[in-house]
Amino acid sequence: MSIENKQKQVESTLRLAPVVPVVIIEDARHAVPMARALVAGGIPAIEVTLRTPAALDAIKAIAEEVEGAVVGVGTVLSAKDLRAAHKAGAKFAVSPGVSPGLLDAADDSDLPLLPGAATASEVMTLLERGYRFLKFFPAVPAGGHKLLGAWASPLPQVTFCPTGGISLSSAPEFLSLPNVVCVGGSWLTPADKLRNGDWSGIEALAREAAALR
Ligand code: 3PG
Repeated sequence: MSIENKQKQVESTLRLAPVVPVVIIEDARHAVPMARALVAGGIPAIEVTLRTPAALDAIKAIAEEVEGAVVGVGTVLSAKDLRAAHKAGAKFAVSPGVSPGLLDAADDSDLPLLPGAATASEVMTLLERGYRFLKFFPAVPAGGHKLLGAWASPLPQVTFCPTGGISLSSAPEFLSLPNVVCVGGSWLTPADKLRNGDWSGIEALAREAAALR
């Protein structure tokens, strides 16, 4: 698949809702009820990070069992991560930054990648490789909505999903920028709610996030 087609897939996934939840899942058995709660709350695209041993099983379970969910893989650092997540059923991949090896692997894969960038030079390097949709990471420590707003004029062809340090209350200052399609954040799936199986609590957080803009 061409990079342009993969970018179109990324775009349609990012346009599904104002927030992409970034999930750290400790127990794969939580994956399906968590994803059902997010979808019920109006948040279909879900990024499950490869930060725990349960992540790939969680992606597989959501891909197979949760109607309406678009499950992606986060914290992709290598070609091996990309292949394993694609095999598990991920529909999109997210990386905190990029390496030449990861970009080459993404070129050879049909799994669409949303690569991370935090400087104008990184954005320009990714533009050269055909990427128009990028994750801005870590959004708040790297300069927040002011930095992103400053990129809108010189880099208008790039659209971002800022992630890192964003909350329900700070999301609107990012979402109001012309070069932001959605934001990412872990606040929709807090560890205590996952641990306690508080699916209605997660659905309520999703509902609040889905109403943003
Ligand atoms: C992460 O790296 O965990 C994501 O960017 C989410 O960041 P957050 O926990 O600050 O929302």
